Amino acid sequence: MDQAAPRGTRDILPPESGIWQQLEERFDDICQRYGYGEIRLPSFEHTEVFARGVGDSSDIVRKEMYTFDDRAGRSLTLRPEGTAGVARAFVQHGLSSEAYPVKLYYRMNLFRYEAVQKGRQREFNQFGAECFGSADPAVDAEVIGLVDRFLAELGLTAVRLELNSIGCPDCRSNYHETLRDWLRPRIASFCPDCQQRFEMNPLRILDCKVPEDQARLHDAPLLFDGLDPDCRAHFERVTELLDAQGIRYQINPRIVRGLDYYSRTVFEFISENVGTQGTICGGGRYDGLVAALGGGEVPGCGFAMGVERLLMELEAQSCLPSLPARSRLYLASLDRAAQTAAAGLADRLRQEGITTCSDLVGRSLRAQMKYAARSGFSHVIVLGSDELASGSGRLRRLSDGAEEEVRLDADAIRSRLDPRTAD
Ligand code: HAM
Repeated sequence: MDQAAPRGTRDILPPESGIWQQLEERFDDICQRYGYGEIRLPSFEHTEVFARGVGDSSDIVRKEMYTFDDRAGRSLTLRPEGTAGVARAFVQHGLSSEAYPVKLYYRMNLFRYEAVQKGRQREFNQFGAECFGSADPAVDAEVIGLVDRFLAELGLTAVRLELNSIGCPDCRSNYHETLRDWLRPRIASFCPDCQQRFEMNPLRILDCKVPEDQARLHDAPLLFDGLDPDCRAHFERVTELLDAQGIRYQINPRIVRGLDYYSRTVFEFISENVGTQGTICGGGRYDGLVAALGGGEVPGCGFAMGVERLLMELEAQSCLPSLPARSRLYLASLDRAAQTAAAGLADRLRQEGITTCSDLVGRSLRAQMKYAARSGFSHVIVLGSDELASGSGRLRRLSDGAEEEVRLDADAIRSRLDPRTAD
């Protein structure tokens, strides 16, 4: 049996999982401060949700989905992204009858069959948020503001925000023709994928990852230059609101994003550290998505950030959240009666919120002490017949060996644990 996890997946063990928990808590907290409630979704959906939602011409749907038939012959797909599933749930639960805007956030694992490299996995995690029910540019600016504030609270600096508008479907169908006219005499020199995209969705060509194709595109016409007056006004209002919040951005008319549901605003937060997989967060407006999934005309806007990439960036900028220093007490026991008493005392201490472990292996005292030191306990009390008889013992601080006599009850022990670390 292959004992390694499948390619492109990763186990997260302590103490790293403690860092994940901290990030999750901070993300929950910021979303709640912006008025979002958490949504939890199934890990797989009917394939159609992504085919219709993310779009048949996207790389995700064409090449990257984990799709399978279940035993009853239904086509199901492990979610490759979150937005389509959230929109599906929005329709299913009739959330369009709630007061707008409806604000939902999530933390989830996603699955994409991609070429594995640093910062690109086949199972990965996102923190994301979606805001439904308002086409006002105030939503776009607030959504971007939430990401900006979150990154700032984590202490990240070298991340830049790039912004674009890809207009409404009308702007895009006009542009498709302009772009096709420009591409027609040139398309033969592009990669085979782009040749397919030429027919299906020429906008996708702008997002091609082949460097030679990118070079060929440098003087291609830009959709941004041909936005209709409403889309241009929408974009200008977004930038005005970002300016008012003091959020810095660069307009990049080449951002198209890899998913078909976007309209108008699109944005990416990109690391300025070379060598890391650049885009930490992507998002934008998707005014046609709910309708494409059978709901009404409900506009929406949101973002998702890659948690693995966020962690890489936090590490690169030395901003990883530190784990809270907590006292951890080990109750060593000299014999069976002491082991029994230790289990009871540990239970009482845990009820008081004190991290406490006792011997579960039947080790000698020496082996227990070695275990306590190696496993990161901050304090030890050794229990034997004397301690059980007197109801008190010696609390030893492992960092410097300092010892003091303490009564074996929760209040007394709590008050003696290092006040800096007791919580
Ligand atoms: P996306 O750009 O496909 O957008 O993914 C968002 C983020 O997820 C990326 O910027 C990246 O940090 C991370 N990510 C994507 N693929 C991988 C991978 N294979 N390995 C590691 N990290 C990855 C979406 O998913 C949209 N649903 C975002 C959105 C929400 N738009 C509106 N609302």
